[in-house]
Amino acid sequence: MIDIDKVRLGFPHLEEVLYLNTASAGLTNANTGQAAAAFYEHMQSRGYDGREEWRAVAGRVQSLLGRLMSVDPDEVGFVGSTTEALNLVVNALPIAAGERVVFLEDEFPSLRAALEPLVTKGVDVQKLPCADEANRTDILCQAAAGASVVGVSHVHWCTGTRIDLPRLAERCRTEGAILLVDGIQALGATAVDASHVDVYAASTFKWLLAGFGLGIVVVRKPLRDRLRPVFRGYFNPSPSTEIRYGHINYPGLCALEASLLDLEALGWDNIFRRVTMLRERLTDNLIGIGIDAVTPRHDAAGIISFRTDDPEALFERLQASGVRIEARDRFVRASPHFYNTEGEIDRFSEILAAFRRGAPS
Ligand SMILES: Cc1ncc(COP(=O)(O)O)c(C=O)c1O
Repeated sequence: MIDIDKVRLGFPHLEEVLYLNTASAGLTNANTGQAAAAFYEHMQSRGYDGREEWRAVAGRVQSLLGRLMSVDPDEVGFVGSTTEALNLVVNALPIAAGERVVFLEDEFPSLRAALEPLVTKGVDVQKLPCADEANRTDILCQAAAGASVVGVSHVHWCTGTRIDLPRLAERCRTEGAILLVDGIQALGATAVDASHVDVYAASTFKWLLAGFGLGIVVVRKPLRDRLRPVFRGYFNPSPSTEIRYGHINYPGLCALEASLLDLEALGWDNIFRRVTMLRERLTDNLIGIGIDAVTPRHDAAGIISFRTDDPEALFERLQASGVRIEARDRFVRASPHFYNTEGEIDRFSEILAAFRRGAPS
């Protein structure tokens, strides 16, 4: 069990606003900031003489993430962002003219932008429509037949739908397709088993609560041996199949270690249970005020979205009322993390209900 009152003391911003916006950026606690500051103090006092100590952080974080993602720590790598990870991997893929790549057309712009240029190599790039959230996994399972690469977000950035990753991975394995996953909206919010997939990319600033500038990329060994990196440097001279070409963001890594240790101490299962409980409570509350969430009740993580006529206008009104959510595409997106409470979910729902009744904000 998480002692939520105690946990919230570490996140003072929660007392100032109704923060339901972890899908944009997670709040960091004091330990995380202090760990980054300690890195700079180390650099001030010891400079390069301290290198063995800060390099050792990488190995410890690989172990923490290996445990969280059910992969070998050696398979966990670090780059600058999710987008960088996707681009480095896509440019290194063993794919030739005439082969097919598939993804859903409403994917996050980074996944689309990384895969679309394969057209210039003669690759058949297929962008598939998805009219019904219940069909996301099925559409990709069907499209995997004859495809060389399937790209997908584990949790969709707008609708919050969580793909059935084990099922899609099984299908990709049968069809011989590489499965490339953008997991930034999943990692830290829901259980992730990256051992099913070929590539799993994420960043630290959302559900892992560790700030910006560090991307996590798991490349499973069978694929890593087949990669041909295009971008090279001192860290991956040819014929290395490593995609990272330079140094790691060490202060970011120190921040991530501190955050992962705090989260692991709370218990990942406890965290995921709270995220589910808060999401389901909000889904029920929305039904109670006549709003149907677009997010499937069970195939989801921390994002709950609903359609409204003018998402921007609702966003502005909620912002003025101290509520932090986002207008994304045609949706209003709320994204509670474990540090939120049932009371906050109810307060948000009451504010929404009042707006629908036309009450002044
Ligand atoms: C699904 C998805 N992918 C990628 C990103 C961008 O991540 P990064 O800034 O680490 O490239 C975001 C959000 O910003 C996202 O929601």
